[in-house]
Order: sequence, then C-alpha cells, then structure tokens
Amino acid sequence: MRVLLVGKGGREHALAWKLNQSKLLTSLYVWPGHVAMAGLAERLPLPGEAAFEQVVAAAKELAIDLVVCGPEAPLSLGLADAFASAGIPTFGPKQGPAQLEASKAFAKELMAKAQIPTAAYVVCQGERECRQQAMAMLERTGGVVLKASGLASGKGVFVCTDTAAVEAGLDRLYHSDMSLAAASVVVEEVLHGRECSFFAWLGPKSRFSLGFAVDYKRLSDGDQGPNTGGMGCYTPVPWLPADAAEQVHAVVIEPLLQALAAQGMDYQGCLYVGLMWSKAVGPQVVEFNVRLGDPECQVLAFADDRDWLELIARACGVSSVVGARHPLVELEAPSQHLHHTVAVVMAASSYPYGTSAGVAGKLPSEWFAGSSSAAEVTAFAGSVQSGGQGALLTGAGRTLTVVARGKGFHEARQRAYARVEAIAANWSGAQWRRDIGLSVANEQERA
Ligand code: AMP
Ligand code: GLY
Repeated sequence: MRVLLVGKGGREHALAWKLNQSKLLTSLYVWPGHVAMAGLAERLPLPGEAAFEQVVAAAKELAIDLVVCGPEAPLSLGLADAFASAGIPTFGPKQGPAQLEASKAFAKELMAKAQIPTAAYVVCQGERECRQQAMAMLERTGGVVLKASGLASGKGVFVCTDTAAVEAGLDRLYHSDMSLAAASVVVEEVLHGRECSFFAWLGPKSRFSLGFAVDYKRLSDGDQGPNTGGMGCYTPVPWLPADAAEQVHAVVIEPLLQALAAQGMDYQGCLYVGLMWSKAVGPQVVEFNVRLGDPECQVLAFADDRDWLELIARACGVSSVVGARHPLVELEAPSQHLHHTVAVVMAASSYPYGTSAGVAGKLPSEWFAGSSSAAEVTAFAGSVQSGGQGALLTGAGRTLTVVARGKGFHEARQRAYARVEAIAANWSGAQWRRDIGLSVANEQERA
C-alpha cells in the first residue's frame, strides 16, 4: 500500500513510525514532514505552503492509495475534499464535518440538537457581551469557561473561578494574536469529574474504538498554569468503567453521526472526543477534535501492538487492500491491546505563548524513533531542525515527546523520566512536567 502522510509534528513522527511496522505498507511519503522522519518516509519535494492541487497532483503521480492526515488545519481547509475529487481516500474528514473542531460554536449547536451530554453554553460576539455573560455565569455557578470558537492550538480556553481570571482570559482572547479565532467565543459552565480522551476511527460503515488516554493540558505540575496543546499522557485509563467505550458510542458518537447525516455529512477519520467523566453523570463532552491528539497519538502508537495501517484501511474501506474485511466494527476498547505507556512532552522555555526557540540544544538522533520497532523507550520529534553530524537542533514550542512503556505505570514513568533527564542534560532551555502518570501509578500500586 502506498501511503501519503500529511503533517510535520510529533504526532506525525509517531504515525510514520507506526505505519512503517505494517505488513501492508510498500511506500510511505510525507508532506511536509521534518528531518527526524528521514528514515521512515520520503518527503514530497513541495513546501509546506504548497496548494492542495499541487499535493494532489504529486499523489496521483505517485499512485498513492491512501492519505493519512495528522493535523486539523488542512482538514478544515478542505484537504480531504481535494483528494476525494481525485478518487484518493483520506483518513480525516471533509471540510463540513471538520467544523466539529474548527468551530466550537458549530460543535455545541450540533450537540444541543443531538442531545449529547455537554456543558450548558452561550455563544458571544464581542468583548462586551462575552464579559457580561461570563460574569453572570460565574456569579450563578461559581465558575465559567471561555473558549475561542476558532482553531487556537489548545491555547484559546480559559477555565475561571474568579473575576480576575475572567479578565485575564478576555485580555488574551481579544487583545492578542488570538483575536481571529475569538471572533465568536463560547461561554460555558464548568464540568466536574475526571478528564480523558477517547479515539474512535470511523468510516461510512465503520465504528472502531482505538482507546482512551489522559492528556495533561496545563503547563505545570499539579495542573497549574495556562492551557497548552498537551504536556504529557498516559494510556490505558484504568479508572474508567469496563464498558466506557460502548457508553461513548451510544450517548455521543451515534447521535453525533446521525446529526451530521441530517445535514448531509458523513465522517471518515479519527474522531477525538474530549470527555469529563463522573460516576454520577457518566461521560460529558468537553470538545471534539477531528484527528488524533498530540501527544495522545504518540502514547497510543507506542502502547498498541495492532497494525494501525490495516485498521485505518479497513475503517476507510480501501477495498483493494482489505477486500471483504471492511467494514470495521469493534465498539469495545479492550485495554489488553495497550501496554502501560506514558508520554512526557519537552517544550521550549517560552511555550505556550512565546515564539522564540529558547536556548537551542543539540540532541543525538539515535534517541528518536527510527525505522525499527523501538525498545521500551524512545522519542518522537516535534519542532526540530537538522543540527548537522547526525544531531537534531531543538526548536520552538513542543519540541519532542518521550514515550516509554512498562509492566505498570510506575515502570513506564521511571523509563520515561530517565530519558527526559538525559535529554535535559543536553538542552538547558527545556521545560516539562514531572507528574505525568503519577496519580495513576500511585493508584495502581495501592490497588
Ligand atoms: P478544549 O480545547 O475545549 O478541550 O479545552 C481545553 C481544556 O480546558 C480541556 O481539556 C479541559 O481541561 C478544560 N475545559 C474545557 N471546557 C471545560 C468545561 N466546560 N469544564 C471544565 N473544564 C473544561
Ligand atoms: N493534546 C490535545 C490535542 O491534541 O488536542
């Protein structure tokens, strides 16, 4: 199978590594990719800003069978539509359903129509209305969440429990580079429970549960500091009920697919369901994303022994490859497929708001995932550049994700943090959280 992967971050490095282990793969190409993917995929000779028509033309020339799209932005701009017109299936939804992530206002409206459990909300236009609604909700319920409706890389959400926090959130939404994404702002109630994410791989006839992961969204230990794109993860999620995946399909995914169908849309690709889970209420939706998570993809790819390319091809119904094995229907998410795995993100010191790369460090490339199936610990590269002599130069933002697995979370953490410390010795500008997987490792030891 000839596959084109789209994207250039840690998530796509993990996908490239995972797809390489499939017996179905004959050639893997990536656009635009990055330097650490060199041994895993051939980069298309096109810049990251190339028009979709150029990428589609290149894919036709290369007889690509399937496109796997990592990030949300190209999907919300119609990447899957462009490939569909050329008869090439894409793992990733078309522009219509991609609004589930690109517009929080669209997602909330659809959830309301489909009666999917989620926080009560209002959509506001402009700072004055937003302040008024937020202060009223804060007074009524003791908390409020402000969310830029448009794409903001996880940085446009402010969970507030006092007026000072509301003012700080308004300031970032309306007086920073986020103001475009904040043209509409969703003001909603605070949900209570434990947070986790669920990943479903869907096609017109397919329903498949990849699994659950817990992401650490706040920058600092103990869930302090601003929201980020994610600072670390663990999988599987032992504190969920055994039928958690079936519950999410029943109360979230089926009603959502029906509501999309009523608007003439179907869904093909990964649906990321951000959830708040409480014993009393069960799952409530925090957000939808139309892709795998970053770093959830890294943690799941490293944890899972299954052949992802086969599963993706079956979900998308690539019949030349999977024949009668389509559709793929597996609602249960049995955690025996997943090793206990943690992922720790290392970011530049200016993350999440700065754009400077911080103090650059030079890292040996053998620390990163190459073509073989890795040992019990490795790293996937996000924002890196070539540093010469087989080394990588750290970049801005979330630079890399260390992943490690073990017999339990305690062992996985020990392996991950030993590697993190070794990397930090080469890179003085790094920041990372020390408590990824700590609570669940302690719970596991007590059990
Ligand atoms: P989102 O981009 O919508 O996932 O929001 C980012 C993070 O903010 C989530 O992962 C939660 O930790 C938090 N959050 C968002 N909405 C709510 C809510 N209604 N109640 C509590 N926390 C929330
Ligand atoms: N880690 C959160 C996300 O990918 O949206």
